[in-house]
Amino acid sequence: MNIFEVMKEEVNERIKMTPKAALILGSGLGYLTEHFSEPIAIEYSEIPGFPKTTVEGHSGRLVFGYFHGLPVVAMEGRFHYYEGHNIRDVTSPVYLFKELGIEHLLITNAAGGINRSFSPGDIVAVTDVVNFGFRNPLRGVNYEQYGVRFPDMSEIVDSLWLADLKTRLQNTGIELKEGTYCWALGPNYETPAEIRAFEFFGADLVGMSTVPEVIAARHCGIKLLVLSCVTNMASGILKEKLSHADVVSTARRIRPKFSSIVRYAIESLLESK
Ligand code: HPA
Repeated sequence: MNIFEVMKEEVNERIKMTPKAALILGSGLGYLTEHFSEPIAIEYSEIPGFPKTTVEGHSGRLVFGYFHGLPVVAMEGRFHYYEGHNIRDVTSPVYLFKELGIEHLLITNAAGGINRSFSPGDIVAVTDVVNFGFRNPLRGVNYEQYGVRFPDMSEIVDSLWLADLKTRLQNTGIELKEGTYCWALGPNYETPAEIRAFEFFGADLVGMSTVPEVIAARHCGIKLLVLSCVTNMASGILKEKLSHADVVSTARRIRPKFSSIVRYAIESLLESK
């Protein structure tokens, strides 16, 4: 048995349902699990081989339950490379999801807005990514049973899922923007010069997560939707200082809008079954 099969065994001893989709909840967005019915939480520390989170605002547990009728599992708190984890460990949950039979993964994050048409409080569907972390979870021996050595990355997100979400949002008054997300390692926020460089290379958003999980999900063939919450404009754009407290408070402020978008995304999966 490989480590992901061991993790699956532990999880399956604790849950009675088969999750159809997974959610990775970013800074200030973990509250969504409060809306799950029949929740069962498993602390990360109870899963063999699973890393632990360290960042404020992340509790570190997998929560299984029904979200608007769909059986799902959510990561309350994700693993960031800047916490000191091995890059492969950052993506362990994605391979556990694969083992659990999950076909759809919704990744959320808090991000800084680089594109000047964005404002704090906007929700952006990520349509492409730039790996400015220059780290890759696929480095080393390939997990042959999960995917090929050289995975295609020409379409990051599932275009059908995103198109269906956009259709559902029409006439709701809820705006969903689109953009390219750039991974910066952190944990410091970027300098204005770095943001100018990222802008030049095509980034609309910057954040300290997501890209490793995106790479792993594409590697093992899990369909993706990625939603960024613009919690602040990126360094140098508004000449304001950046703080984690402001990031978390904006993520709180947009909760109703964010919850609605996630609900539509999940309903899309319910009706496609
Ligand atoms: N930069 C990097 N990560 C972030 C930011 C930012 O401006 N805002 C929220 N997460």
